[in-house]
Amino acid sequence: MRASTPTEPMTQRHVLVCPNRTCLNQGAIAVLTAFQAQPVSGYVVQKTGCMGQCGEGPMVRILPDDIWYCQVRPDEVTDVVERHLRGGRPVRAMLSPHFHAAPGH
Ligand code: FES
Repeated sequence: MRASTPTEPMTQRHVLVCPNRTCLNQGAIAVLTAFQAQPVSGYVVQKTGCMGQCGEGPMVRILPDDIWYCQVRPDEVTDVVERHLRGGRPVRAMLSPHFHAAPGH
């Protein structure tokens, strides 16, 4: 008997939002809410544990791309949704410099 799970087990992607202490104080819930308000097929928006980047938040990580965004504001979420999640091109200006070297550096 088959389990009653979605039929696309290998294509699910994730938007991980850190809602823990420091990110919480920096507005993570508003960022989480903004992502949840703009659902994208194939992506699941999830809270995650501390990403070890406290003070750089709110932190958002996109998997499996392994793209890290830092200091995300709610008004920037639409850019991530449209350009990255729908368009497949990460928003360079928002990338965390701890994980992604700045262009030209
Ligand atoms: S609290 Fe968000 S990275 Fe640590």
